[in-house]
Amino acid sequence: MPVLDIARARVTDVVNAFATPLKASHYVELVNPLWTSHKLQARVEEVWDETADSRTITLRPGRNWRRHRAGQYVRLGVPIGGRRFTRTYSISSSPERRDGCITITVKVLDGGRMSGHLVRELAVGSYLPIGLPQGEFVVPDSTPVRPLFITAGSGITPVMSMLRTWDLVGNMPDVAHIHYAPHRYDVIFATELARMAERHRRFRFEPVLTRELDGAVEGDRHFGAAQLDELCPDWRERDVWACGPQSLLEAVEQHFEDAGRSRYLHIERFRAPLADVPDDAEGGEATFVSAGDRVTALAEPATPLLRVAEDAGLNPQHGCRMGICHTCDVPLVAGRVRDLRTGDLIDEPGQLVQICIAGAAGACELALTTPSN
Ligand code: FES
Repeated sequence: MPVLDIARARVTDVVNAFATPLKASHYVELVNPLWTSHKLQARVEEVWDETADSRTITLRPGRNWRRHRAGQYVRLGVPIGGRRFTRTYSISSSPERRDGCITITVKVLDGGRMSGHLVRELAVGSYLPIGLPQGEFVVPDSTPVRPLFITAGSGITPVMSMLRTWDLVGNMPDVAHIHYAPHRYDVIFATELARMAERHRRFRFEPVLTRELDGAVEGDRHFGAAQLDELCPDWRERDVWACGPQSLLEAVEQHFEDAGRSRYLHIERFRAPLADVPDDAEGGEATFVSAGDRVTALAEPATPLLRVAEDAGLNPQHGCRMGICHTCDVPLVAGRVRDLRTGDLIDEPGQLVQICIAGAAGACELALTTPSN
């Protein structure tokens, strides 16, 4: 350990002994929230509107931040109306950026409480809790690649981090990038991508405008076999990274499975793939028990119980909101819920329920505490 770090650790130990029950870091937070060691925060340095409904937010993470790999995401907490919401966002900036900042680029989702807040209301100078970079949606460092990127909407953000990195270090591989957006004005980073394509002959950017037919092109402009053959004839010789809405990812997955090339396909999802809820499925009254209080709300069968609880004014613990991290696990007290990914019913009292991907299947009661609390 460097001498300075040893000295800092010893001083911190001494200060902690006097600061009990708080840590020195709690006092440091009053001076500068980025200097704390007990939690990681980031300051909003700048906001920039990319399109009418998407915004890039520049964040300066505090001490203890770990440099990301291009393609990774971070978990971000945002206080809204006295409650804290958490979502994950891909980092859109390159890890080669030298000013200690990262960017995320957020698109407003239909009914998206947090995306709406980040794009319309977040103020420069705010401090937000942030996690460390995570994720496997990265291009290997060790082997040369010929990537085909297939993205739509804000699914372009992890890919942008990769492209910016290759652009910055001057080492652009042979890249084909197909990107879907409704209209030309919806293409996030359009100008930067066009300039990048001018600078690098090996980078081919193919925007597909699904609602702009230009009079010349007729028919369905969504992903399909014939279109892929036309836009990237050598797709069978490439590794593929795809990120976007569920409908695109399902079509891409099916296509590469049919072609026997699933192992060359890397997919990044920001929502759990959900099964169809049966037409005759019924929701019911969901009761959430928390610290002795009971809150009951009407729950539709396809609405995640996490969302139902939040809409009822509660603040359940959660992380990824897509059935991966298990931060939202709570025990079922009574009644029945449905796993929205598989359609399986859960009705055994005491069984843990991931409320971010479970809906009510009749009346149900859940204890809003995680086993670790
Ligand atoms: S929030 Fe991550 S599994 Fe539910």
